Amino acid sequence: MKTWLASLACAALCATGLASVAVAQDPVEARHEAMEEIGDANRPMRRMFSGEAAYDEATVRDSANLIASLAGDDLIALFPEGSGSPESDALPAIWENWAEFEELAMRLQTVAEGLALAAGNTEAAAANETSMGALMGGPAPAAETEITVQALAEMPASDVFEMLGDTCGACHSKFRAKRN
Ligand code: HEC
Repeated sequence: MKTWLASLACAALCATGLASVAVAQDPVEARHEAMEEIGDANRPMRRMFSGEAAYDEATVRDSANLIASLAGDDLIALFPEGSGSPESDALPAIWENWAEFEELAMRLQTVAEGLALAAGNTEAAAANETSMGALMGGPAPAAETEITVQALAEMPASDVFEMLGDTCGACHSKFRAKRN
């Protein structure tokens, strides 16, 4: 609600965009909100890809799009230099390895966008489409090659979801304090 009001105020008073207003308010609170939204969007997908819940293509697409919309530059903007605090699990390593942190935030966006497009690439769909089946049988792109949304869109949804989880994990393991 506060963010919503701030965005209204911003629309009226400034041209700096919602993210910078949120940062001006309290970057720690803003990124907790964003990360919790990302976590909430991730949860139903995890249940589906682990087989605990029935697969629903539209839910995967919407959840992935939501994560994509919170990632990338908008996510980076929530971590201004010097915003580490006792209320935050963000480690100083973020600002010591800024390029790597930015890269992971951008990758989150790319992989989430790819997952939204790959949502229909399930085993059932592959069985109906031999050419798609051949494509999806190919090797996954190596970690060093640049990941593109287009390449991800051709992959099985479950593989792209795994890459999404790897991206969360890669960033958390290096840049987020472990909670006791
Ligand atoms: C670019 C780095 C990065 C990526 C990628 C990333 N996170 Fe995070 N995440 C963080 C950091 C840093 C924190 C701690 C923020 C803080 O406490 O200020 C965090 C915190 C969280 C939290 C706790 C929020 C809270 O209120 O304390 C959740 C939940 C979360 N992340 C989920 C996810 C999920 C799910 C993904 C992948 C879909 C993901 N994150 C991807 C960096 C990242």
